[in-house]
Amino acid sequence: MTAPDHTVTLANGVRMPRLGLGTWPMDDAEAAVAVRRAIEGGYRLIDTAENYGNEAGVGAAIAASGVDRAELFVTTKFNRRWHSVDGVRQACEASLRRLGLDYVDLLLIHWPNPDQGTYVEAFEGLLAVQDAGLVRCVGTSNFLPEHLDRLFARGYSPQVNQIQLDPYHPRDAEVAVHAAHGIVTESWSPLGRGGELLADSAITALATKHDRTPAQVVLAWHLAKGYVPLPKSSDAARQASNLASLDLVLDEAEMASLDLGRPDPDMADPNKFGH
Ligand code: A2P
Repeated sequence: MTAPDHTVTLANGVRMPRLGLGTWPMDDAEAAVAVRRAIEGGYRLIDTAENYGNEAGVGAAIAASGVDRAELFVTTKFNRRWHSVDGVRQACEASLRRLGLDYVDLLLIHWPNPDQGTYVEAFEGLLAVQDAGLVRCVGTSNFLPEHLDRLFARGYSPQVNQIQLDPYHPRDAEVAVHAAHGIVTESWSPLGRGGELLADSAITALATKHDRTPAQVVLAWHLAKGYVPLPKSSDAARQASNLASLDLVLDEAEMASLDLGRPDPDMADPNKFGH
């Protein structure tokens, strides 16, 4: 029997794990322990960012894990001050230094910052560091369709767009645009925020039915939709059970019972928030 393929193929042919470890808000010391534990437990996709302030800890964990670099898929992101072609090169080189790596698998523009108005230049910077072999794949985070449209108009397309997404925030309009352009959707805060989603009776009913945890049900929802969820956990048992959601399959009726989208006035607005 062949092992299940837990990867998704990006538009440039690179394969990315279907589930990864989020690392915000770990600091360096916490990341050094928690990320190492996650890699040793089977995680292969690690998501960090300049803004998290933990790239050195993530890099230390990678080095200590003993897992072959080629088996890992490391993502980082840069802040608004680097939104220019040369700025992205500097940001990328600084991230690589902190991580102790000679390439990252995926580099993302962390927020579009439309008030600054230079995310197209930032994207051109991504293409330049990709050409230089410093990054394998390029993408965006927190881009709305209107921001992606400006990239499309220039003939550019990210391989990934990472957005806040969970059954309460299904982001249907955004993911439809991604699907139409071959962009893989990554989900940040995939378990929702504040614990309300995990306590929702629609989720707990399926958890009871399958003898799984509510978090596994939510992660299975992301996986069934074809999204790549990035649950953060520093806890060994939760890390393991989150990863084990890869073998939980929900049927169509169960998926329909998780159509829980509802307005959230508190959700971060990428036209107003960004760093
Ligand atoms: P912990 O690190 O103690 O496991 P976000 O995705 O918005 O960053 O939120 C992740 C939060 O969810 C963290 O507080 C994390 O806490 C918690 N968490 C992660 N996995 C689970 C799980 N399986 N069950 C409950 N809470 C979880």
